[in-house]
Amino acid sequence: MSISNPRQTFLNPVIPFAGTILGGLLPGEMVLIQGSVPSNADRFQVDFTCGSSVKPRADVAFHFNPRFQRSPCIICNTLQTERWGREEILYQNPFTAGGAFELIILILKDKFKVAVNGGHVLEYKHRVDLERVDTLNISGKIKVDAVGVLPPSSTSVSPAASLTSQDSEMNLVSCSSGDLSIPFRGDLGKGLSVGRSIAIKAETTHKAQSFGVNLRMAGSSDIALHLNPRLKHRAFVRNSFLSECWGPEEKKLGSFPFSTGQYFEMIILCDSQQFRVAVNGLHQLDYKHRVKDLSRINQVEVLGDVTLLDIKIR
Ligand SMILES: *[C@@H]1O[C@H](CO)[C@@H](O)[C@H](O)[C@H]1NC(C)=O
Repeated sequence: MSISNPRQTFLNPVIPFAGTILGGLLPGEMVLIQGSVPSNADRFQVDFTCGSSVKPRADVAFHFNPRFQRSPCIICNTLQTERWGREEILYQNPFTAGGAFELIILILKDKFKVAVNGGHVLEYKHRVDLERVDTLNISGKIKVDAVGVLPPSSTSVSPAASLTSQDSEMNLVSCSSGDLSIPFRGDLGKGLSVGRSIAIKAETTHKAQSFGVNLRMAGSSDIALHLNPRLKHRAFVRNSFLSECWGPEEKKLGSFPFSTGQYFEMIILCDSQQFRVAVNGLHQLDYKHRVKDLSRINQVEVLGDVTLLDIKIR
């Protein structure tokens, strides 16, 4: 199996479902769950457990439990020696009863990071050694079409596309070399247009100083949008490189969203007048178009002190 494919897949599992994750979970891997929530749902849970013993009940390293009635929320917790710990509650529920979803749980050294339908939702610090986790247990009011365990830096096929063939409007940015190593250069096909967006999932390195995301025009040295977070000085510099010159830098920022050794998601939305940039679900900045013919912007480049995990264009 090439590393572009999930290393393990469960299709249409019967719920309640308990499946062994072959080889356990390693930092950088992702568990992708595609399914839907029935319209009468009250709750469901996705549990990462240590074995599948029912009596005594296996420890639950990460209990992820969206609830739908009264005040919608997500409860996270850990069960050890049959005792629940302290609940971590998010008073929001990004799932909709009666709606489809794509849930991604990214495994990091120190925590789980959960995203739903492409947006960051929550993170949960490990309370149990990651090495002990070997089972995925899904139960409650949920219908699951596919579960995939994806290796780090899944390449050439986007996680979504690799599990279900139809109906994913998101495409992985195609790149000639077929991998996500840095520096990364990917092709945006027909170029940008109003309403398109680029979603980048990456992690800054432990001693990250700086990284860059460039939207470029193939066949020239022009850069329509240069995004350059500088971690040491907590500056987020934006600029364009046109006709062999840098223009005026833009630096204004509310708060600096990056830190070293951290996972992040950046979305660059192409609006009619500007690029709108969000990081971890929060709007950060706008950048007025300096290149007016958006269709000429047909390459994305990522370089510097990051590990690229996923990049998609919609
Ligand atoms: C799976 O989770 C359900 C609900 O939390 C629990 O009742 C069941 O015992 C678990 N099954 C396994 C095999 O861990």
